[in-house]
Amino acid sequence: ELCQIGLIGLGVMGKNLGLNLADNGYSVAAFDLDAEKVQGILSQDEQERGDKPARITGCSTFEDLLSNLQKPYLIVLSIPAGKPVDIVCGKLLELGLSQDDIVVDTGNSLWTDTVEREKQYHGKFIFFSCAVSGGEVGARFGPSLMPSGDQAGWSRLEPVLEAISAKVDPESGLPLVNNEPGNPVTEGEPCAAYIGPTGAGHYVKMVHNGIEYADMQLICEAYQSLRTALGLTPKQIAAIFREWNKGPLNSYLIEISAEVLEQDDPVTGKPLVDVVLDVAGQKGTGLWTALSSLEIGSPAMAVTASVYARCLSSLKENRVKASTILKGPEVTYVADSEKEAYIARVHDALYCSKICAYAQGFELMKTAGEQQGWDLDFAAIAKIWRAGCIIRAVFLQSITDAFNKDKGLANLLMDEFFAGQVEKFQSNWREAIVDGVRLGVPMPCFTSSLSYFDSYRSETTAANLLQGQRDFFGSHTFERTDEPRGQFYHLNWSSPERDLVRIK
Ligand code: 6PG
Repeated sequence: ELCQIGLIGLGVMGKNLGLNLADNGYSVAAFDLDAEKVQGILSQDEQERGDKPARITGCSTFEDLLSNLQKPYLIVLSIPAGKPVDIVCGKLLELGLSQDDIVVDTGNSLWTDTVEREKQYHGKFIFFSCAVSGGEVGARFGPSLMPSGDQAGWSRLEPVLEAISAKVDPESGLPLVNNEPGNPVTEGEPCAAYIGPTGAGHYVKMVHNGIEYADMQLICEAYQSLRTALGLTPKQIAAIFREWNKGPLNSYLIEISAEVLEQDDPVTGKPLVDVVLDVAGQKGTGLWTALSSLEIGSPAMAVTASVYARCLSSLKENRVKASTILKGPEVTYVADSEKEAYIARVHDALYCSKICAYAQGFELMKTAGEQQGWDLDFAAIAKIWRAGCIIRAVFLQSITDAFNKDKGLANLLMDEFFAGQVEKFQSNWREAIVDGVRLGVPMPCFTSSLSYFDSYRSETTAANLLQGQRDFFGSHTFERTDEPRGQFYHLNWSSPERDLVRIK
């Protein structure tokens, strides 16, 4: 019997997506260039299904894959972003695809590549994209999915994607989880929503990852502040994170940070975090978010700061050398009687900075969406991030609520709830930063978030002086506060009269 879905690429993500599809009743033809990976998914399926019939057909070539598939084809790619996507699409075209066939790219592709590919394959087959978040476990038991592209593609994919996605309890807004093979969660609201025309889904996923970078970096700064100022052990900080996880900071990233901090190294018995080299990797999506924010002029300083923090971490050799030359302040631990208040201040700094990071990410998507004509639904985007994805958190429900109240909300900080939260906690946020600065703790993301907040809430900034400087050395002109926008002036700085010239 022919299979309903073809799957190309059986790395951890592909394999788990395949098993997830099978759990949800879809027959899958699976192919990878590496025959061992094909064997891998087949044996995993065999192990999990027990005496039930096989749900996955292993294929040894592209031709074999197509000959095992129902027409029109529905082919899911789970392969590295970039060239491999073009190569595989080219190969499939060569073997014969038709207008109704759909190829779905689930990788972390650059959104502009997706737009190009859709154009390139238009009329030949439907090139559709479905960005996936949630790592291996998400892929296996329910990821958050950000599909976009051709409407005909979406109509056919909608039931499939909704079935395999993570689910949320509509009452509580909390994830409905069952990490048990063969028993997928079928109730609740699916974390899959049509994002918009081609490119939109990958853009939104890119910003998801940018926010993920910021969220992770902020947690790292909280950890480092607590460790430096209080001299706590990783396990003690894990316990604090576990407490925080009961409140508004409740999130997958706080939870796994506590787990990482609790872990001992199996070799030395020391806290694992102390033997992990402090050089951060990155695969590019944070950088793309930062670049896009710079390009379109929508500040996402928390993302840029976290990308730079990873870059700085990579300068290990230089840092080791610099640490012997550049001295900072002497660190004395905070007094015992002050500890609790200090921890509360760091909590609030993390919370307020996190609000800024998300506000930046959502404003970035809004600006990009307007430029591209995407008409993004931010309440729906926040909703599908409530479960399955890496940034899943209780917090996302409040973001959904904010956009449900005001679809066109310019910035999350302007929502009544978030404005109230920042007002309530900002003095602690400021003090945590002052304390950290005094102790010499690097906090690029905490500090940039506070600067963003202080800039965003300012009616006037020092850009008036800046315009004066530009006009002085380059006759770049300026507008006046007492005239309508669009009327430019230049002051003759070099003439004795210093007369004002109105630029026509
Ligand atoms: C997700 C993750 C996933 C991946 C990141 C990691 O949403 O499931 O974001 O896409 O883990 O790309 O990125 P870095 O390697 O750049 O940290």
